[in-house]
Amino acid sequence: MLTASVVDANDTSLRAVLVEARLPVEDLTEAGRAFYRFEDGGTVVGYGGLERLGTDVLVRSVVVLPGVRGKGYGASMAQQLLGMAARAGATDAYLLTTSAAEFFTRLGFRPLDRVNAPASVLGTRQAMSICSTAALLHLSIA
Ligand SMILES: CC(C)(COP(=O)(O)OP(=O)(O)OC[C@H]1O[C@@H](n2cnc3c(N)ncnc32)[C@H](O)[C@@H]1OP(=O)(O)O)[C@@H](O)C(=O)NCCC(=O)NCCS
Repeated sequence: MLTASVVDANDTSLRAVLVEARLPVEDLTEAGRAFYRFEDGGTVVGYGGLERLGTDVLVRSVVVLPGVRGKGYGASMAQQLLGMAARAGATDAYLLTTSAAEFFTRLGFRPLDRVNAPASVLGTRQAMSICSTAALLHLSIA
């Protein structure tokens, strides 16, 4: 069973895995972010994060350890993150990715032109700088 536990933004394993996956680490410790470590039977399989923006949420830092990709963990982790966000009151999930857009569209996310995105999402560090060339995806989770 896949379990999620809160992990500190300064956790060295979290940072190392994100760096290896070429995902942003520059803003991990800034306010409003929460990160989770996912374990299957006590073995760490991946990490994921949520950046709360009122009723919007940016799903970020989703990474499955390279040795256990393709086993369904990524999809389960994303579903758990979306569930946590919805239970916390979020109605709309957003995501920026340069490499996994197809993975997230399989989960229901759809591409969104940045001109139609809320200012809160466009104002995130990910959207403004770190992932300025990434595809923006949206999913209603109300
Ligand atoms: C993207 C990622 C999280 C997927 O995790 P995973 O555990 O390998 O994914 P799953 O096993 O749950 O895959 C679910 C489905 O998506 C597909 N898929 C997985 N990664 C994909 C990708 N990058 N692009 C397109 N499809 C992908 C799988 O083939 C699978 O399809 P199937 O159901 O037909 O077999 C993982 O590849 C990863 O950590 N990538 C590096 C970090 C990253 O890019 N994160 C996203 C930005 S936040």
